[in-house]
Amino acid sequence: QIDEAEVMAFSVPSYACLRRTTLDNHNPILTDALSLLAENAELSDEDGRGVAFRRAAAVLKALPETVTAVTQLRGLPCLGGHSLRVIRDILENGASSEVEFTKQSERFKALKVLTGIFGVGAKTAERWIRDGIHSLHQLQESGQTLNRAQRAGLEHYDDLKQPVTKAEADAIGEIVEKAVVSVLPGAQITLIGGFRRGKLTGHDVDFLITHPEEGREVGLMPKVVSWLESQGFLLYQKTTRNSYLEAKDGPARPASNIDRFERCFSIFKLADEEKRGAEETENPPEDRCRLAAHSQATDEGPQPTEAAGGPRRWRAVRVDLVVSPISQFAFALLGWTGSKLFERELRRWAGHEKAMSLSSHALYDNKQGRYLRATSEEEIFTHLGLEYIPPSERNA
Ligand code: GTP
Ligand code: MN
Ligand code: MN
Repeated sequence: QIDEAEVMAFSVPSYACLRRTTLDNHNPILTDALSLLAENAELSDEDGRGVAFRRAAAVLKALPETVTAVTQLRGLPCLGGHSLRVIRDILENGASSEVEFTKQSERFKALKVLTGIFGVGAKTAERWIRDGIHSLHQLQESGQTLNRAQRAGLEHYDDLKQPVTKAEADAIGEIVEKAVVSVLPGAQITLIGGFRRGKLTGHDVDFLITHPEEGREVGLMPKVVSWLESQGFLLYQKTTRNSYLEAKDGPARPASNIDRFERCFSIFKLADEEKRGAEETENPPEDRCRLAAHSQATDEGPQPTEAAGGPRRWRAVRVDLVVSPISQFAFALLGWTGSKLFERELRRWAGHEKAMSLSSHALYDNKQGRYLRATSEEEIFTHLGLEYIPPSERNA
């Protein structure tokens, strides 16, 4: 008689960057539960606990089969007592009391709603909750001063809650491409973030822009933004300047994940598909998506005002643009493709196992005291002593 647990026991390396994690998750119930606890920890300024839950969830995402008994998890890394308790609860009772309690808690619900507003972080949400603000309606009535990003976030709340589809990402890509090529012929754009990993939807669309001739990309972002603005494509934008300077004797701020590229956080005004579509004319189909979206919306959200001319024929979409010099392109590409946990694990591997500092700009070898150049992601993996993992398998 073979012990079933023996047969089913899985083996998984502890660093997420040593594993191949596709979007084909066999344990969504368990990983959703752990991700919710991770999110709650992150929103409560408990980053350590957040990472622990994220790591535990990521290990389960990498398993080739659905877990049915806790015994199958014997020997797996990153599963602490707390995570195992949650998993056991779900496997044995169908649900985790802690997860259910968290989901129902007024505090968590309020944190979710408020940080769901673009421009609102955990700190701000926390402060508002202390002032008795738990909903969008209460926020609007409160007279709290909102910054420009938060005002835009509130105004486009319903749109920005709707997941962005791949088709919408591609449509935005065409617009960005047109903008970039108009202001700097020869410049190149690459889709990064979740869509590069093969996700079918995202909370935003991320692009990396570069030019094959070093230096030509300097000052590109303001020009791209002006072009987009002049064409009426932007509902909001905030551009930050490049502040990265490579030090002569070591990394300026080693292993920091704070980026110093020219970067633009924006909200695009994307025309509905029937308006984007080339041949569409006279009678565009009824605005069903928008109506469906609204019937689902809560009564607390701000209703987008519709002009006298009828229903809106566009939606707001979050877009992130990053400009990188070609010499840093591979590092930027690797650093902005994600997932967030995969990136964190890459940097942990580099630092702890290789005495190197990896950022979205460069790789520094602390033992050799020099930067290691790379023109492709493959080269960076090689420098790090890692087997190459393609974007579609970085969904940790
Ligand atoms: P969705 O947008 O939700 O589909 O997921 P995503 O994986 O695209 O997430 P997001 O757009 O938030 O980030 C994309 C990648 O960019 C992730 O790998 C992040 O780690 C990375 N990223 C986000 N913000 C920063 C930043 O300020 N600096 C650097 N260096 N990387 C960042
Ligand atoms: Mn993204
Ligand atoms: Mn993004």
